[in-house]
Amino acid sequence: MTTTPGRVRLRRTRATPAMRRLLAETRLHPAELVLPVFVREGLTEPRPITSMPGVVQHTRDSLKRAVADAAAAGLGGVMLFAIPTVRDAVGSQATEPDGILNLVIADAVAEAGDALVVQADLCLDEFTDHGHCGVLTPTGAVDNDATLVRYADMARAQAAAGAHLVGLSGMMDGQTAVVRDALDDAGHHDVALLAYAAKYASAFYGPFREAVESQLEGDRRTYQMDPANRREAAREVAIDIAEGADVVMVKPAMSYLDVLADVAATSTVPVAAYQVSGEYAMIEAAAANGWIERRRAILESVLSIRRAGADHVLTYYATELAGWLAEETR
Ligand code: PBG
Repeated sequence: MTTTPGRVRLRRTRATPAMRRLLAETRLHPAELVLPVFVREGLTEPRPITSMPGVVQHTRDSLKRAVADAAAAGLGGVMLFAIPTVRDAVGSQATEPDGILNLVIADAVAEAGDALVVQADLCLDEFTDHGHCGVLTPTGAVDNDATLVRYADMARAQAAAGAHLVGLSGMMDGQTAVVRDALDDAGHHDVALLAYAAKYASAFYGPFREAVESQLEGDRRTYQMDPANRREAAREVAIDIAEGADVVMVKPAMSYLDVLADVAATSTVPVAAYQVSGEYAMIEAAAANGWIERRRAILESVLSIRRAGADHVLTYYATELAGWLAEETR
């Protein structure tokens, strides 16, 4: 074969919008987007979250509207987080049937339960007065097995409230198996488990701590993964799948695309990724300064997460992004 200079010209595959559209390897679809939402007990109007411009702590009413909007936009689901008025050492409000999260699960299911997968964060950090994801030993360490007992109770409460899927974000060993058994024993065989399998101890959760008014002092490095570790994610994922995870997650997304690609290549269950609060905040801050083009940056960021291998993406941009996707296909 002659090697005429310029014979192989990849630029012809990029020459027109129609050609680029035809040859795109990755596409975004609203069904692959999940919107995380916050509700705060006792609010009379939505309260802005300073470090996440455009995101609010909802009232129960405004949460219902956000859920209806998410359904109208064709999203795949919503992930519910709730902040109670009263916190204590064991996170009692997480397991009370009339605890705020359990109430809003029922609200969301009533509002749009046929159109969306209604998902709930199954973790104690929003409910404990010390802000850790579990209960503590007398010396202040996070007690893995005592926490599992609380998670089992919490799973039953969330399932009773109507949750379709529970998001196990606490990074306790054995949590997936314990929650699966608890749900099955209570007859909730159809409630699915999303295991936050590879969840890293990340600085990019910073704005979320404001969003949920976290009381945490210190960090979560004794239970969340070390950002240095890539191979270890494969162990976490394998264990969660063996314990019964229906979906596994990599979190955060953008600084962990290598991990996401590894997991996507080997997982036998669907893979989610979470574009977390700090990723959102960075894009918003840079865009507000005119340093990046907001819409293009958002589209590119979520596309990259899909390209790396996520089957679906949790992102605070979900509803807005779905609106843009609808415009593009019109
Ligand atoms: C724990 C939880 C956290 C996030 C989701 N679930 C916080 C943490 O682990 O410290 C962070 C999400 C985000 O930053 O957007 N319940």
